[in-house]
Amino acid sequence: MGYSDQFFQALGVSQGYGGNLAAVAKQCGIPAAKLKYYNEKNIIPSGCDLEKIEAATGITEMLLRLKMGRLNKDLIQAIQQYSAELLPILDNHKPLIESPLDDCNLEFQTDLGKLYRGDCYSLLKSMDSDSIDLVFADPPFNLSKLYPSEINDNLKEEKYLNWCQEWIRECVRVLKPGGALFIWNLPKWNASLTDFLGGMLTFRNWIGVDIKFSLPIQNRLYPSHYSLLYYVKGEKPNVFHPDRLAMDVCPKCLGDLKDYGGYKSKMNPKGVNISDIWTDIPPVRHAKYKRRKGSNELSLKLLDRIIEMASDEGDLVFDPFGGSGTTYMAAELKNRRWVGCELGPSEVIQQRFDVIDEERKILEGYRSQINNLFPEKVKKLREKKGLWTCETVKEPRKKEPQISLFAAKG
Ligand SMILES: C[S@@+](CC[C@H](N)C(=O)[O-])C[C@H]1O[C@@H](n2cnc3c(N)ncnc32)[C@H](O)[C@@H]1O
Repeated sequence: MGYSDQFFQALGVSQGYGGNLAAVAKQCGIPAAKLKYYNEKNIIPSGCDLEKIEAATGITEMLLRLKMGRLNKDLIQAIQQYSAELLPILDNHKPLIESPLDDCNLEFQTDLGKLYRGDCYSLLKSMDSDSIDLVFADPPFNLSKLYPSEINDNLKEEKYLNWCQEWIRECVRVLKPGGALFIWNLPKWNASLTDFLGGMLTFRNWIGVDIKFSLPIQNRLYPSHYSLLYYVKGEKPNVFHPDRLAMDVCPKCLGDLKDYGGYKSKMNPKGVNISDIWTDIPPVRHAKYKRRKGSNELSLKLLDRIIEMASDEGDLVFDPFGGSGTTYMAAELKNRRWVGCELGPSEVIQQRFDVIDEERKILEGYRSQINNLFPEKVKKLREKKGLWTCETVKEPRKKEPQISLFAAKG
């Protein structure tokens, strides 16, 4: 992975047999390995390295920034100032997605939704502007995974991000004003996309979704969350009704995990406010629950929460990356209309709809646990153990005699 040699091109470096990397490294007084790092990550050198490059080659930071596409405020200002002169040059620039648009075929439909087979970019191009209430996208993470669609999941970083920008731009076009866009990805990719998204939409949240049982990576902080970006088109969302969550209790004794002190009576019996850190989304790892062997499948609980939060019944939900169809299933069960797309085979999605009643039970199980400070089972067990519940703390208290701290001594 990496960018397309923009740093090396700026410096006039050619690599491999007969290349001049060693010579340029010597000329600049910077180790070749370090120059390779700048090139691989498309990073503008700073400090002494930048000074050495300028002294040895005459290439300035500004030129490097232009050649490497890393614009800063000065360059952005210059582009704004000379926009009329730049426009004819930009109009001649070839589009990033060069392949002709393929047709997307309708694979199957329900009363509420339609699933297409093909490239989501083609499907998006055929969709009306301002027509979708909620977009949820869980693209491939570019982690060299094997998908049944046989896509290349090991693109150069730059190519992957360019591709993301293309489908995101179309998703934004089809989104209704006030509609919501969610993107599920690794923090690394979502961090790189926020600037682009911020130019078209209003940022709402970076939601950190706890990864259960992730593996440590050497010399890195232990990665323990996925990023879920949440944006809206325009200033305010059309719909925002987040679920309230049950209070965390000890799984063994059901006692309080936090000391709520005198604030118990102030707690909302419907549950606690949901935050931007979600720790209760289960992974779909067990083969028994997995619809598609060997690849990513999100929990119905995650899509239930998102769809509940950002859409109403009858609204239209779009997910460009079908996978095993979790979004479509959640939308169907929650009476939302939906449009989906999957490049690869979609039998697994259709089979899922054949057992929709099983999925409904799973979803009902999740919903029975929320919007209630103590779900029924927990409440009963707490009552049995003499622990407080909403009813006990909300009972009018007997007036206790006031004891003055300044009572007269002796
Ligand atoms: C990470 S998976 C989505 C998993 C899904 N959210 C779920 O819960 O099952 C990404 C899916 O996008 C599909 N895909 C990749 N590129 C695509 C494209 N250009 N158009 C449509 N689908 C694509 C892949 O085949 C893969 O099934």
